[in-house]
Amino acid sequence: MKLVVNGETRDVEPRAGQCLRTLLRESSHVEVKKGCDSGDCGACTVLVEGSPVHSCLYPALRAADREITTVAGLGTPEALSPVQQRFVDAAGFQCGFCTAGMVVTASAFDDDQRADLGEHLKGNLCRCTGYRAIREAITGGDLEPLPTSGKVGERVGAPAGRRVVTGAERYTLDHVPGGPDEVPGDVLHVAVLRSPHAHARITRIDPAAAEALEGVHLVLTHENVPQTLFSTGRHENRLDDPDDTLILDPVLRHVGQRVAVAVAEDLATAEEALRRIVVEYEELPAVFDPALAREPGAPLVHGDKDAATSRIGDPQRNVVAELHGGVGDVDLALARADVTVSGTWQTQRVSHVALETHAAVSWLDEDGRLVVRASTQVPFLVRDELARVLGLEPDRVRVFAARVGGGFGGKQELLVEDLVGLATLRTGRAVQYETTRGDTLSAMPTRHPFRVSVRLGATQDGTLTALALEVLSNAGAYGNHSPGVMFHGCHETVATYRCENKRVDAQAVYTNTVPSGAFRGYGLGQVVFGLESAMDDLARELGMDPYELRRRNVVVPGDPFVVTSYPSDGSEADDGLRYGSYGLDQCLDLVEEGMGRDGEPAPEGPQWRTGSGMALSMIATTPPRGHFADTSVRLLADGTWELNVGTAEFGNGTSTVHQQIAVSALGTTADRLRLRQSDTDVTRHDTGAFGSAGSVVAGKALLSACEQVADQVRTLAADLLGVGVRQVELGPTAASGAGRSVTLPELHAEGLRRNGAAPEAHGDEDAALRSVAFNVQGFRVAVDVDSGEVRILRSVHAVDAGTVLNPVQLRGQVEGGVAQAIGSSLFEEVRVGPDGRSPTVSLREYYVPRIDDLPDTEVRYADTYDTIGPLGAKSMSEAPYNPVAPALANAIRDAIGVRLFELPMSADRVWRATPHP
Ligand code: FES
Repeated sequence: MKLVVNGETRDVEPRAGQCLRTLLRESSHVEVKKGCDSGDCGACTVLVEGSPVHSCLYPALRAADREITTVAGLGTPEALSPVQQRFVDAAGFQCGFCTAGMVVTASAFDDDQRADLGEHLKGNLCRCTGYRAIREAITGGDLEPLPTSGKVGERVGAPAGRRVVTGAERYTLDHVPGGPDEVPGDVLHVAVLRSPHAHARITRIDPAAAEALEGVHLVLTHENVPQTLFSTGRHENRLDDPDDTLILDPVLRHVGQRVAVAVAEDLATAEEALRRIVVEYEELPAVFDPALAREPGAPLVHGDKDAATSRIGDPQRNVVAELHGGVGDVDLALARADVTVSGTWQTQRVSHVALETHAAVSWLDEDGRLVVRASTQVPFLVRDELARVLGLEPDRVRVFAARVGGGFGGKQELLVEDLVGLATLRTGRAVQYETTRGDTLSAMPTRHPFRVSVRLGATQDGTLTALALEVLSNAGAYGNHSPGVMFHGCHETVATYRCENKRVDAQAVYTNTVPSGAFRGYGLGQVVFGLESAMDDLARELGMDPYELRRRNVVVPGDPFVVTSYPSDGSEADDGLRYGSYGLDQCLDLVEEGMGRDGEPAPEGPQWRTGSGMALSMIATTPPRGHFADTSVRLLADGTWELNVGTAEFGNGTSTVHQQIAVSALGTTADRLRLRQSDTDVTRHDTGAFGSAGSVVAGKALLSACEQVADQVRTLAADLLGVGVRQVELGPTAASGAGRSVTLPELHAEGLRRNGAAPEAHGDEDAALRSVAFNVQGFRVAVDVDSGEVRILRSVHAVDAGTVLNPVQLRGQVEGGVAQAIGSSLFEEVRVGPDGRSPTVSLREYYVPRIDDLPDTEVRYADTYDTIGPLGAKSMSEAPYNPVAPALANAIRDAIGVRLFELPMSADRVWRATPHP
């Protein structure tokens, strides 16, 4: 058939039943993205004869002789269409994986459609932005063009903006023959057979029929893969998590666990091969409830493991890790308190829903080294563990990331790279694996469900005298991130309040359910939900304003950070925490003042009740237990600067901030910077992009490198110009002083002549000290007591982020974090049935918020300067998530007079909780 795409015609032969999306991508139109396979996300939207369609649902044959337009046909990075230009000017994307589909859909809108985006953009999902910037791009008035270069503190757009909005920016699997991201040779494809049982032992597995199928190159089972235990969770210190996972394990511990893997010429053949593998199972008793899992006699999920060598807390009790301790005497304090409150709160499994699913492609380079391009937040940590598991020296493995289509913590794991790497080593061929949305939802790590019991006591004047937490975290079948999430979740939450009597008892427990893992907030959001809900109840019991109760009890500089013990040296420090700055008081004022202003009017009708609520949270500005970045900056022969930074860009905006830091420190402009990033062959070690470390850790390291190399260049220039070093000023093309100047290429040559090397400096940062940052969220809601619907009338969020490095970007991160948290507070849940099986296998069942589900959030900034962070800045990518659920719960409590203890606070749950006559 004739396929006409963006005005070009080619002859193609679609396969039977093929959809237009796969045909387009196989025809090199990789600007068309895949976020699902069920028409839910809109990332694959193209125009057919001018009308937007989800190309994953559109039969390829129907496209014959019809005019297809992709985002690349609307404009180019050099000549943007008006819609594309508005997405750039409004900063209407973060990771950008949804953007191609968004732009295509918006390009076909008329005025009526633009006026009703809730209806007409509901088929396009964005997980990063919270939609405010997208709405502004499509419907806003005049937009102030966003500069592409600027210093720290200025509004600056993402360097890749023009490429993202035209589909030219390449993501993990956007490789095409002959293109710049070409993968050598024809690529083989991976399909994975997954366990139908929650707990079972494979008693027999026979891959012979699968191996005999034409086009199949390899079948992997537990009988022919390395049996090195590891953890999919990745950390700077690999010993942080228990070694409890195998590439393929004869024991299956959750529904959806890998059973076998087929590698074939195409995906359909690989999937057919899976159907021919014969597997016999012995079913084992399973446990799904973490409270039952720790009871004596419960089925043991990892009872075959040794505690010492696997670093599992207690495999004979299903305990991954636990924390017990406290200061003072909580029971006595509760007995003596004027007022006490208590409750038990439960959070649910949440999926990250990064629009780009887990994916990797690997091959052998000309030296026989294994090369892996992965959708990862942690290329260096993946490289090291991959080498260990596959029995290779680390220098025989290269891992790098192209632009990553969203992460939210979900890509701080090793989930696909081991399979493609092993398949490439066995076949010598390029191999790729892209997880389906269904597998990503139901078989890949989710946010840890927590049960949080809180007991608080206070005197009548509102002084907190007792704070006790019992936390039970459901690790699922594997311990990846479970110790860290449990410790971190308790740590800053408990340390937020000054209280003489504190007690923490926390356990992370194995069950035969889908594993939990790292997720934005890293446990804080779960514990904050319980504690801040209880604080609201305490304020009610005391008859005290909730802001006032917080002001009276939160830590202030000079107070020690206390979790389970006082700092041994009598200082305010605990586990590396310091007050590099403090803006919680300002955040409370900003939200209280902002909530006093008008929001959306309440809907009319006797069934609507309105209420307000607030909550706060504290977070360490660098991830717990060590984070390292080693950067370098070099002056090139043409007078431009090469920046080498290990951190990946996945919508967190670190490449924009790094560019601003370099512009400020080197006196240059963004177009004269060459940023090389997230590649283990190109840059030195970087722990990775999580915990907002891209700005605070890598940014600080880069600032150091820039300042050092600038000093070198100024010294060279001072010698040539005959002036003092302090009088030399660096500009984009030259250094000048006393009315004279010398060009940067000349200074590069001078460096070579004198030192045998171009000016170059390394900056490394080992984040041993951690400042603290704060967030306060306020909501006003209306609740329909007849249906349980919750409408947000006003949302105000204040952040204590220190120096605002980029106001556009910071606002986007806060809006996105609040939006994601509203989704998980009100709708989102990966459900697990009584047999351990998840019915949540598509976005239709999961329900990511659409554009009309979210309010605009007013974002306000405390005015602080941090003495620990780079240029006074603190991290603020994941923290906005944390106070949202309790602030909403407190507002709902205010509206209907009933406390909700369980997430999500879905309409049916709210309705059931509401007293009805
Ligand atoms: Fe929309 Fe990432 S920018 S999904």
